[in-house]
Amino acid sequence: MSENTEITHIPVEVIKNLMMDVFQGLGVPEADARICTDVLIAADLRGIESHGVARLKYYYDRIQRGQHQVRTETEIVKETETTALVDGHHGMGHVIAHRAMEMAIRKAETHGLGAVAVRNSTHYGIAAYYALMAAEAGMMGLTVTNARPAIAPTFSTEPMLGTNPIAFAAPSDGDHPFCFDAATSIIQRGKVEVLSRAEQPIPPGWVIDAEGNPLTDPDRALENLGQAQAALLPLGGAGEVMAGYKGYDLATIVEILSTSLCGGAFMKDLLGFEEDGSQRPYMLGHFFLAIDIEHFLPLEFSRRLTGQIMRALQGARKARGQDRIYVAGEKEHENEQLIPERGIPVNANLRRELQTMRDELSIPGYEAYF
Ligand SMILES: NC(=O)c1ccc[n+]([C@@H]2O[C@H](COP(=O)([O-])OP(=O)(O)OC[C@H]3O[C@@H](n4cnc5c(N)ncnc54)[C@H](O)[C@@H]3O)[C@@H](O)[C@H]2O)c1
Repeated sequence: MSENTEITHIPVEVIKNLMMDVFQGLGVPEADARICTDVLIAADLRGIESHGVARLKYYYDRIQRGQHQVRTETEIVKETETTALVDGHHGMGHVIAHRAMEMAIRKAETHGLGAVAVRNSTHYGIAAYYALMAAEAGMMGLTVTNARPAIAPTFSTEPMLGTNPIAFAAPSDGDHPFCFDAATSIIQRGKVEVLSRAEQPIPPGWVIDAEGNPLTDPDRALENLGQAQAALLPLGGAGEVMAGYKGYDLATIVEILSTSLCGGAFMKDLLGFEEDGSQRPYMLGHFFLAIDIEHFLPLEFSRRLTGQIMRALQGARKARGQDRIYVAGEKEHENEQLIPERGIPVNANLRRELQTMRDELSIPGYEAYF
């Protein structure tokens, strides 16, 4: 381990305050900065290292480059009792997504279902955050988003589809909801960034170069992805043997839900730059669905059924050498108990990024940490 990758743990409150200071320092209004911070800190608390404080500089750079508007002016383009089409006008993706899922939940309370499609948004962070908003309201929630091209279709080496995550949450009678939240690629871009900061190679079989050979250097992978000279492999991997086409097809479903209901941009138009290399907004699309359980079954009955499914899976016969079976959302729930005590892990490469933002925005304090 080099000294750049040495980890220290920083208290959650310190990181949270820094996020608020950075967002507000960039001009994001306080109430919106709170939402952006809440989504990022939720990632850190859930142990999703790639999408918490590690992504603060990402938003910082994009705002500075004019690719995100700090004031989020969402416009309802079309609305019915159960549906809405929203234009995010390139505001803060977290705020746009939060408003969209709130809208879906309100509609579902009255009509059983709420579906909101969003265009012209920006990166919304962890998809689970919005699916869990529905679960907390006693509903099932689903969200997907498209993203910059990264995944190569089966039998191709060209990055065409984003890492296009799917998140689904359902309330249970256990100590956490069921919550699946993952990219449709084997590894998502954020994990490549984490490997780069940790100065570790990418395991072979996750990322390929333009000839289809394994690419294991995370820095080269990040650089080459932007120039379409590298691609992430879909869930299932290259070719058809391990059913990589299923990951490719799931990513395509996400692209369609994120585009063909909202009329937004898709695939190569999401690169964030023009042909002459000048920067432009990412124009991402999202989709949100809330299903009010009470319109189908009593909530407590549904919670119990979901809990029974989860417990039955956890109790299944274990493979040799394994002592535990997980269900989706379980590891993240455990992290939420552990991380507030332990603090958020930050290595020296990341500390330097935090220092840069603090200094460039002339934010006082934090010297004890970075
Ligand atoms: N906004 C974007 O553009 C974007 C794009 C890609 C990914 N992301 C986010 O990145 C985050 C991480 O994505 P990822 O693809 O690296 O996730 P991942 O590969 O770490 O998978 C996480 C999911 O798998 C579940 N899981 C883990 N181990 C399990 C086990 N043994 N049994 C059952 N379930 C298990 C977790 O509970 C969780 O739901 C997500 O929050 C996602 O929304 C965002």
